[in-house]
Amino acid sequence: MLNKKLKVVSLFSGCGGLDLGLEQAGFNVVWANDIDKTAVDTYKYNMNSVVIQKDITKISTDEIPECDLVAAGFPCQPFSSAGSRKGVSDERGTLFEEAIRVIEAKKPLIVLFENVRGLLSTKNLDGSLLIDSIVETLKDIEPGYNITYKLLKASDYGVPQQRYRVIFIGIRKDLGVDYEFPEPTHSLNDPDLTVGNVLKNIAGLPNQDEIWELSPQSKKLIPFIKEGGSWKDIPFDHLPPRLKKIREDMKKYRAPNFYRRFARDEINGTITAAATPENCGIIHPIENRRYSVREVARIQSFPDNFIFVGTSLASKYKVIGNAVPPKLGKIIGETLINLLHSIDPKKLEQARNGYEQLKLFSV
Ligand SMILES: C[S@@+](CC[C@H](N)C(=O)[O-])C[C@H]1O[C@@H](n2cnc3c(N)ncnc32)[C@H](O)[C@@H]1O
Repeated sequence: MLNKKLKVVSLFSGCGGLDLGLEQAGFNVVWANDIDKTAVDTYKYNMNSVVIQKDITKISTDEIPECDLVAAGFPCQPFSSAGSRKGVSDERGTLFEEAIRVIEAKKPLIVLFENVRGLLSTKNLDGSLLIDSIVETLKDIEPGYNITYKLLKASDYGVPQQRYRVIFIGIRKDLGVDYEFPEPTHSLNDPDLTVGNVLKNIAGLPNQDEIWELSPQSKKLIPFIKEGGSWKDIPFDHLPPRLKKIREDMKKYRAPNFYRRFARDEINGTITAAATPENCGIIHPIENRRYSVREVARIQSFPDNFIFVGTSLASKYKVIGNAVPPKLGKIIGETLINLLHSIDPKKLEQARNGYEQLKLFSV
């Protein structure tokens, strides 16, 4: 067993969804960073870790402490040229490059990236896949990382939301172990995951009376939508011109499912940062309103004592929609801690002190 907690540096930490899960799993987040004020204010309010509100491109690696794990949910941007670090000099590649800069300086035992499902099909400007560039870049960092990635569905792990995210795990090669993603723990029939269950005993909780008002257009449309329905329930004559055009040629527009209103016996869809009823299942099942801040926080598996602070309501929905559900973070964190505990403690301590020493130790 390790006598000290494993240390995490969290880049693009948001309000701390992933970090809370990693802490619950037994990690110690020693330093976090995000550029967004509401994210950082909420992080500070709820977490004990140091969190810096600053653009990561303006932070020197000397300011970042040593750590065992670097976590980064960088915004997804294509590279200008596949697999080539030079190609990343294109401005659009810089945020991934920032994570690489920190990993190169700190050489953590573990790298954890999180990203949207679209990352799997995002192409670089030369037509190659962005995901291949990410894997190749990580493999090349001295002393090399064994990379594995998977598209995970949060509801498979007890989060009351059908949310897909790509998780990457890189394990430093000199540790000599491979990571395996956890098996699902929950099925889609689990009554604990339903909207009805999420909304139980919620009155009076912090952030429950904070409800972002709908736009005038949504206010008119939503009363037509029945519990479990969508924009298909809205009579044609009541649709705005843009939606009429789509309704008239559903095939051409690939039958979109706007204004989804999940029923109490369904599992909610993905809560997005924009929190718009048109594109994200954010309408209350039986009241004609958007979910409250607490309701979306519950759908994201934040505990009720995690409080969202900030000046604008929209910014609170944004940080929640951007987060990795803490429950998913905890399960991944636990599998990582178990993996590290499977390594000979002396070897692990040596590895934590630097891979050069590990080489000497194992001779
Ligand atoms: C997908 S969210 C990360 C969510 C986080 N992992 C969580 O679980 O709550 C991406 C974050 O990157 C932050 N971000 C974007 N550009 C940044 C920059 N240049 N420097 C620091 N943070 C940045 C955004 O403010 C946003 O919070």
